[in-house]
Amino acid sequence: MQIKTVSTQAYSGQKAGTSGLRKKVTVFQQPHYLENFVQALFNVLGDVQGKTLVLGGDGRYYNTIAIQTIAKMAAANGFARILLGQNGLLSTPAASAVIRKYQAFGGIILSASHNPAGKDGDFGIKYNVSSGSPAPEKLTEAVYAETQTIKNYRILDVPDIALNQLGNQQIGSLSVEVIDPVEDYAQLMANLFDFDKIRQLFQSGFAMRFDAMHAITGIYAHHLLEQTLGAPTGTVMNGTPLEDFGGGHPDPNLTYAEDLVKQLYSDNAPHFGAASDGDGDRNMILGRHCFVTPSDSLAILVANAHHVKGYQNGLTGVARSMPTSMAVDRVAQALNIPCYETPTGWKFFGNLLDANKATLCGEESFGTGSNHVREKDGLWAVLFWLNILAVRQQSVAEILHEHWQQYGRNVYSRHDYEGIDSQIAKQLMTDLQSKFPTLLQQTFKGYQIAFCDDFSYTDPVDHSISTGQGLRIGFTDGSRIVFRLSGTGTEGATLRVYLESYCTEPSLQTQDAQTLLADLIQVADQLAGIKTRTGREQPTVIT
Ligand code: G6P
Ligand code: ZN
Repeated sequence: MQIKTVSTQAYSGQKAGTSGLRKKVTVFQQPHYLENFVQALFNVLGDVQGKTLVLGGDGRYYNTIAIQTIAKMAAANGFARILLGQNGLLSTPAASAVIRKYQAFGGIILSASHNPAGKDGDFGIKYNVSSGSPAPEKLTEAVYAETQTIKNYRILDVPDIALNQLGNQQIGSLSVEVIDPVEDYAQLMANLFDFDKIRQLFQSGFAMRFDAMHAITGIYAHHLLEQTLGAPTGTVMNGTPLEDFGGGHPDPNLTYAEDLVKQLYSDNAPHFGAASDGDGDRNMILGRHCFVTPSDSLAILVANAHHVKGYQNGLTGVARSMPTSMAVDRVAQALNIPCYETPTGWKFFGNLLDANKATLCGEESFGTGSNHVREKDGLWAVLFWLNILAVRQQSVAEILHEHWQQYGRNVYSRHDYEGIDSQIAKQLMTDLQSKFPTLLQQTFKGYQIAFCDDFSYTDPVDHSISTGQGLRIGFTDGSRIVFRLSGTGTEGATLRVYLESYCTEPSLQTQDAQTLLADLIQVADQLAGIKTRTGREQPTVIT
């Protein structure tokens, strides 16, 4: 058993984005591409002698190949132990949970989230630190710098690990422990939610569909929903993870989870529907003939947290990303707890959760979570909803409408203009911002502008400042339009326009969001000149 030192040459562009390094599989297949990045990471981590690394991925194509390489490199770099998900599988939230439970030094998660998978699809690698949080920018920057000067990497020359064989396997001085990818996560969920009540709900004939979209959450959902909680077989759709995610785009929204949406809007619709994404951190919630926006979902979880075992002692605070609707702010105010407004990106919640300033967090981009891990967590949100439904014995629509009656409805929609010219997008934002001083007090279609700004955030824990996080235009009646350029798009620029109005009139509240927002949509176009600048008559995606 020999440690090989292999000489290599640096690749440009190994810079991690919001969630690690994401590239086409074919890019990762270049000689030493993955090895360079992993060695750069290990170099930055420094002395890892005696330490434990968690390792797993969302099961997409190239997952198992990468896992063999990374394990052999971890052995050559001095790690003492690897906790490896069986068959190379671990969802993002489960990896975060395992890191925390076993007090690992950190974890490597192989995923490109909801991006398409397969030979021609995407692959990704990200590192999470000992709290279970995604690596902070300081660390990812240092890794990037290291990739630019890397000259060699270390790898142990040993046969492949048997990824399907649970238990301990020794490679050199490294002990590889192949663990059940579901067990620790399922235990954590059982501690937070009332499984007996949810079991009774399913026994009473409650029908649910969970769409795993051929990605990682299939193994978790089969175990939790069908085997543990007694939901009938067939509750989980597309539940076997496939290397190409069945050729689909596992992003749980009204566009990509089309089959599920059809079922929930059919005559024989089940009571409850949910879906998760490629690596299991996103969620979408549906009731019979009813869609719950992620912003409303967050507000409802917060308002009902006292019904749930893991949160019945109260929440220290809540947090939402800036473009997420202000529905949760109203609940926080009623509960008399702080509500933090952060820039887009889950990483901004990390400090608030670590400092116990927030217990629940959420984003409009179908992400919800709590302090139980340091990633957003799709199935957690689904179980939280099931727990609420089991306690309240009402339908999803009844819960949603009662919530609006009590707090008012923050009518909400996001309009995306994808793949527009980057220059045009930037100019649109600059021109809009330069108009701000003249806009104050002006009225458009009955909406009077109360404030406009370029959102910046000072982290209340480490006092770091993030500027340029999106343009906000607020109206005197509490309505809002936010303009932002996506930080995750791959081709050209994606302009996101977030529209929000506040409606307290119960007879209007149940109308379609696009109808209720029609005037505000026109105001957005009038202010920013979206149609004339982009040449687009309609957004590409409406959520
Ligand atoms: C990822 C991040 C989220 C973020 C989302 C949308 O899923 O984990 O935190 O909200 O991307 O980001 P974007 O910049 O494209 O709006
Ligand atoms: Zn994801």
